[in-house]
Amino acid sequence: MHFPARFRVGSGVAFSAMKFAILGSGTGSNAEAILKAYRAGTLGDAEPVAIFCDIPGAKILEHGKAYGVPAVQLDPGPFKTKFSPEREAAWAQAIKDSGAEWIVLAGFMRVLKAPLLEAFPNRIINLHPSLLPSFQGLDGIGQAWRYGVAVSGCTVHFVNAELDRGAIIDQAVVRREKTDTQETFAQKIHAQEHKILPDVIRRISLGEVVL
Ligand code: GAR
Repeated sequence: MHFPARFRVGSGVAFSAMKFAILGSGTGSNAEAILKAYRAGTLGDAEPVAIFCDIPGAKILEHGKAYGVPAVQLDPGPFKTKFSPEREAAWAQAIKDSGAEWIVLAGFMRVLKAPLLEAFPNRIINLHPSLLPSFQGLDGIGQAWRYGVAVSGCTVHFVNAELDRGAIIDQAVVRREKTDTQETFAQKIHAQEHKILPDVIRRISLGEVVL
């Protein structure tokens, strides 16, 4: 049986779990992988405390319900791929209010700027569906597929002010086989994402990742 780190006793030393919020925009299969790992007790001392989503009705919100983690949709403002400054400040406050000290971007399709970066300095990580620094930006899988690469994969990295350019924490490689279609290639990349993202969160929570 796994107990969240904050309930652990015995050493006389107060444990402080790495509380984090998940931000996502869509299906939320990576959020689900994180929540599953937490339930299975394989997320180290990390604890998901909230899910925030920018798209009304996105499936990621259902995963929150299924796993008992508060999940809310918040207004990002009028732009498609960034926040308005006021809304980004409101998101930063809402995320702080949730108790989160870290942010995990799991399929979040907006660029972060000062309000969030300054509220969570060096405490935001992102998942990207390519081997960075190749194929940054939107549709990393499609970009790699169309380029005709023999291998691609996924990356977890720290987030800084430069899009998809923060320090890399981990990557997984996926080979493109002759029999692959873009769909099967994408499925293989997603399967790797579901492994490396929870594992990076675990490693950060245990102090094994230093920027
Ligand atoms: C994932 O493949 C993730 O790498 C990608 O969105 C997908 C979300 O899937 N993120 C980006 O492209 C960020 N630039 P999910 O909603 O099922 O977790």
